[in-house]
Amino acid sequence: MITYYAACSLDNYLAGPNGELDWLPQPDGGEDFGYKAFYDRQDLMVMGRKTYDICLGFGDWPYAGKETIVLTRQSGRTPKFNERFEAFDAALWRERSKTTQIYLNGGGEAAKLFLQHGLIDRLELAIVPVTLGAGLPLFAAGAPKTAWKLESSQAAAMGLIQNVYNRV
Ligand SMILES: NC(=O)c1ccc[n+]([C@@H]2O[C@H](COP(=O)([O-])OP(=O)(O)OC[C@H]3O[C@@H](n4cnc5c(N)ncnc54)[C@H](OP(=O)(O)O)[C@@H]3O)[C@@H](O)[C@H]2O)c1
Repeated sequence: MITYYAACSLDNYLAGPNGELDWLPQPDGGEDFGYKAFYDRQDLMVMGRKTYDICLGFGDWPYAGKETIVLTRQSGRTPKFNERFEAFDAALWRERSKTTQIYLNGGGEAAKLFLQHGLIDRLELAIVPVTLGAGLPLFAAGAPKTAWKLESSQAAAMGLIQNVYNRV
């Protein structure tokens, strides 16, 4: 099972045009919008290299102890934590998804790639009540039209809506 879990604006951006994330609600030690429970259930995380570079800038590696794969076409990057670098292989991800709970972290380019290959089973979106007007989209341009069935929708603190969808 592959789940794309992301926080997005009301107009479906993952980040502002220059990668701004300052509109995301800050964890205050209380409400985490179900994130920790979701995270603990996942065996493996995958992210695009641009998201990885953003995560590196956070200082402490946020995913210590979680097996993490970074998708890149580059070779020769050296892991700093517990991450591995891989080229994208749809068949390998299909095989993994049969036995493994996979957290697709994003960003939009990686999400498009997985969707193009029918590899996203589930979407968990934390929709933040802000419109950004422009930015880096939840799915990069050219992602295929895909129908989703809403499983649950929950209003959380600060006007945030947590929506869970399964691919039809
Ligand atoms: N709000 C949220 O919850 C959230 C979550 C995740 C990310 N984000 C934000 O999203 C932004 C990044 O998203 P993005 O869409 O620009 O980039 P991305 O999906 O994170 O990364 C794109 C990179 O993935 C690699 N890639 C793409 N297709 C590939 C393929 N077929 N084979 C191998 N590697 C491939 C390439 O790396 P190389 O160039 O190295 O080849 C490409 O440059 C950041 O600003 C981040 O902060 C926000």
